[in-house]
Amino acid sequence: MKNFISAYDVNDINALVKKALDFKKDPLKSKNSGTNKRLGLLFLNPSMRTRLSTQIAAQNLGMEAIVFNIGNEGWALEFEEEAIMSGTTIEHIKDAAPVLGKYFDVLGIRTFPSLKNREDDYSELYIKQFIKYAGIPIISLESATLHPLQSLTDIITIQECRNWQLTTGNRKPKIVLTWAPHVKPLPQCVANSFSQWINAWGEADFVITHPEEYELDEQFTKDAIITTNQDEALENADFVYVKNWSTYNDYGKIYCNDPEWMLTNEKLQRTHNAKIMHCLPVRRNIELSDEILDGRNSIVTQQASNRVWAAQAVLSEMLK
Ligand code: CP
Repeated sequence: MKNFISAYDVNDINALVKKALDFKKDPLKSKNSGTNKRLGLLFLNPSMRTRLSTQIAAQNLGMEAIVFNIGNEGWALEFEEEAIMSGTTIEHIKDAAPVLGKYFDVLGIRTFPSLKNREDDYSELYIKQFIKYAGIPIISLESATLHPLQSLTDIITIQECRNWQLTTGNRKPKIVLTWAPHVKPLPQCVANSFSQWINAWGEADFVITHPEEYELDEQFTKDAIITTNQDEALENADFVYVKNWSTYNDYGKIYCNDPEWMLTNEKLQRTHNAKIMHCLPVRRNIELSDEILDGRNSIVTQQASNRVWAAQAVLSEMLK
């Protein structure tokens, strides 16, 4: 694996999931594979789970990890080619990335979208410039449009909970991605990425539900069933992934913020005793109710803990 930016960097998702679950059983089974290798983790934006789980994953492989909060502590980077740097940026990515490429063997980058200009955000300029100029493998720790380590974790967690097989024979699980309310406009990354990975995985009946005006980019949703009727979508679901996102078409806005879209135990009754997923952090009683998050169907902690094994599987592939 050269870079890890999207589902299409992975040849065999099931093999990578198996690798992650093998690491979960025996975290130190490849404890020397990263000896004398160094991982740089660059954060232009905040993080808890991605930052810590990726460091733990590197440590399990014997790899040194160095975190750099470049957004707060580094020089402001310029990403545009041929920029005349008379503004606030101090250093061009063309100069910074090759240096990082000499310091590290693998580089992880977290960059959020601006949510101001869709064309700019969806061009993924930041992560593409790191790939172009660093000269070493790049891992997305969440980019402007995708969050691949999260999505790999999500599939690992779904695979781990293969309860639908016990109760329904071998039918595909029904997985529902549902929009939820929020107080501020959030990126579409997690929803885009989950859609991309579930479609690439191909082992689920996939339904997306959201209010009018919250359509996602079709390049990610592809053949998923899409409905604005949440109740209908939830019928017989085995997994419900809850996430807010801002509008894609009229970019980065909040239109409807109807609290009726928040998942409750009453809505859960429609499902097939579904497991409830969320990438975290979550706004309690806005995006997801206490009764769901604290209830026995929630697998959000299991999901977040699996971030370690997803990162370890990806790093292990890059060390090959
Ligand atoms: N889910 C996720 O990426 O969490 P952090 O923002 O805390 O890394």
